[in-house]
Amino acid sequence: MTMTSTAPERALAAPEAPLSIRGLTVVFSGDVTAIDNLSLDIQEGEFVAIVGPSGCGKSTLLKVVSGLVPARSGEVRVGGPAAAGGKPKIGFMFQRDTLLPWATVTSNIAVGCELSGLPKEQHAERIASLIALVRLQGYEDRYPAALSGGMRQRVSLARLLAFEPDMFLMDEPFGALDYQTKIIMGRELLRIWEASRRSIVFVTHDIEEAVALADRVIVMSARPGRIVASHAVEFERPRDPRSLRGDPRFGALVQKIWSELALPG
Ligand SMILES: Nc1ncnc2c1ncn2[C@@H]1O[C@H](COP(=O)(O)OP(=O)(O)OP(=O)(O)O)[C@@H](O)[C@H]1O
Ligand SMILES: [Mg+2]
Repeated sequence: MTMTSTAPERALAAPEAPLSIRGLTVVFSGDVTAIDNLSLDIQEGEFVAIVGPSGCGKSTLLKVVSGLVPARSGEVRVGGPAAAGGKPKIGFMFQRDTLLPWATVTSNIAVGCELSGLPKEQHAERIASLIALVRLQGYEDRYPAALSGGMRQRVSLARLLAFEPDMFLMDEPFGALDYQTKIIMGRELLRIWEASRRSIVFVTHDIEEAVALADRVIVMSARPGRIVASHAVEFERPRDPRSLRGDPRFGALVQKIWSELALPG
C-alpha cells in the first residue's frame, strides 16, 4: 500500500464529482497504449468495481489517478467535498501486502496515523479502535511474518483507514487470499465502507466479487483499455456478499459480464 496526496498542480473537480476522468490516454515507452480515451465519473461515496482481462490497464488507471503514472492526454480531476479544504488524500491498497516486516501490527498501523497528520498523543487510541474494527485484538505485538495472508491484509486495511483517505483505490486487495477469506474480507470491507461511505475504486479479476460489493461494475476491454460496459448493481444495502451469491439476479449479472469480457479462445 502507498498513500499519496495528489500533486498540487492537479486540478480539483467540482465538489459533486470526487473523481472525473475525461479522454484519458496512457502510453508507455515502447509505444504500448495501456489506456485509450477512457472517461469515467465516480460519485461521492460510490463503490465502483473495475473488471477486465489481464493487461487491459486496470492497475495503470489506478496509478494515474493516484499520480504515480503520468497521462499522455486527457484529464483526471480528483476532488469532492472531503477535499474542499485542501488536497484530497488518496489511499492505495495493493494485492500483496506492503507491510513493514520489521514492525509490529501496531507500528505498521502507526505509519498510517503518521501520514494522516494525526497528533502523536492520539495515535494509540486510533490504533486500538482500528485493530478492533478489523478484528485483530490480541495480535497487536505480532510481526507480519507471524500472521496469515488474510490477517496481513486486515493490517493493511487498518493502516489505510488510519490515513483517513478521501478516496480508496484498491488493486485486487484480496486477490491472493483463499476463496473463503476473500469473502470474509469483502464482508468486512462493506461493513467498514457502510460506516464511512468514502468513494472506492476496486479492481478485481473476480466478477462475483465485483457484483457482490459494488454499486457499479465497469467492464474494460483487452489492451488498449477502454470501457465496454457499465452496470448498476441494485441489490439493497447493507448486503451480505455470501447470501447474495444465491440470488438468481446475481448469477444473471455475473454471466452477462463474463460474456462482455470477450476472453480469447
Ligand atoms: N511501467 C510500464 N512500462 C511499460 N509498459 C507497462 C508498464 N506498466 C504497465 N505496462 C503495460 O501496460 C499494460 C497494462 O498494464 P496493467 O498493469 O495496467 O494491466 P492490468 O489490467 O492491471 O493487468 P492485471 O489484471 O494482470 O493486473 C500491459 O500491457 C503492461 O505490460
Ligand atoms: Mg493489475
